[in-house]
Amino acid sequence: MSGPSFGLTRLALSSFRTYAAARVDLDTRPVVLTGPNGIGKTNVLEAISYLGSGRGLRSATLQEPCRQPGEGAWAVAAQLSDKGAILADIGIGLAPASRATRIVRINGAPASGPLAVTEYLSLSWLTPAMDRLFQEGTTGRRRFIDRMVLALNPAHASAVSSYEKAMRQRNALLAEDAPPDPAWISAIETKMAEDAVAIAASRIELISQLEVAIANEDESAFPKARIALEGIAEAALSNGSAADVEKLLTDSWQAGRHRDSAAGRTLDGPHRTDLSVWHAPKDQPAAQCSTGEQKALLVGLILAHARMIENLTGRGPILLLDEVAAHLDAERRKALFERLTQQHGQSWMTGTDRAFFESFGEAAQFFQISDGKIARDSEKG
Ligand SMILES: Nc1ncnc2c1ncn2[C@@H]1O[C@H](COP(=O)(O)OP(=O)(O)OP(=O)(O)O)[C@@H](O)[C@H]1O
Ligand SMILES: [Mg+2]
Repeated sequence: MSGPSFGLTRLALSSFRTYAAARVDLDTRPVVLTGPNGIGKTNVLEAISYLGSGRGLRSATLQEPCRQPGEGAWAVAAQLSDKGAILADIGIGLAPASRATRIVRINGAPASGPLAVTEYLSLSWLTPAMDRLFQEGTTGRRRFIDRMVLALNPAHASAVSSYEKAMRQRNALLAEDAPPDPAWISAIETKMAEDAVAIAASRIELISQLEVAIANEDESAFPKARIALEGIAEAALSNGSAADVEKLLTDSWQAGRHRDSAAGRTLDGPHRTDLSVWHAPKDQPAAQCSTGEQKALLVGLILAHARMIENLTGRGPILLLDEVAAHLDAERRKALFERLTQQHGQSWMTGTDRAFFESFGEAAQFFQISDGKIARDSEKG
């Protein structure tokens, strides 16, 4: 069979948002979920997104998905298959007694750690909240880069959280009335600098791999993007050694203690890095492009990234494309669907209107959501 060979062949949700208990058996073709507003389409994509190592596509706490009213627990179980063979059964959830620890089981046994799942799958997603990615502040774009890095280097998340933890300690010290103990704050800044170099190195690696992937894409309905990182650590690391960058950062943080103390936060570092994106054919910043052009740019980036991961790891990411048809014209939708049927990893799409997806024909599987159930939708046309 041509088409995606890797993906979920079973998904079961328990006490997850709108779902008391729902189960769906499927194959690895693209999946289209339709139903009215508020029925639980995005909830399904979110549930799948928890199969990764992070906080899911709503960046929610572990408690938020607990079905209300309920016992304060939830579970998502998935069977992953590749080329017709079962690869793994993965279960993720929150037990009623454990307030903050996620439970991860792989093939029935407790996973060795939160990153164990990354051996089996990577995930990538596009949500309506990202439609304004190029317009809004840097946070969204930085999260976008860091998520793309994760598919390449799962340890990136722990470097980022270690850096942020040290930075919070620095901010707290600078907020105290008494001047900070110089040895203590220097030690914290040194730790931040070490993490910053690791973070910047992973981001630079991502961008260079992604540039190659973008260059290798066909000219298509999705315009090529020109991308670059804008950040103190990334700029320095492009021109110097890790030791030079650590020194530059610790010097700049040391010199900036008064300024940062007055501002109440650390004003510069990899937590401020931005991603600059240009529409290459038009030679125009993404933020100046039309809504549909921006969406097409984003889709193009997601597709190039998926191809990159597929080429590097031999296993394409599972794509979660929430409301992806919105803002795309018929030609672009068709191009997207063709592409999604050609890649290695399964894609999941949502929409209120099945008609948008009809051009998939038999190449996709359709499900309708109602009353907390996910039912195969065999209705034609
Ligand atoms: N923890 C929870 N327990 C029960 N219901 C919840 C919980 N969290 C969210 N919901 C409900 O889930 C619904 C939203 O589901 P979802 O976002 O998946 O809808 P959707 O089908 O994607 O809608 P749209 O087409 O508007 O995007 C809301 O009605 C909300 O009240
Ligand atoms: Mg939705």
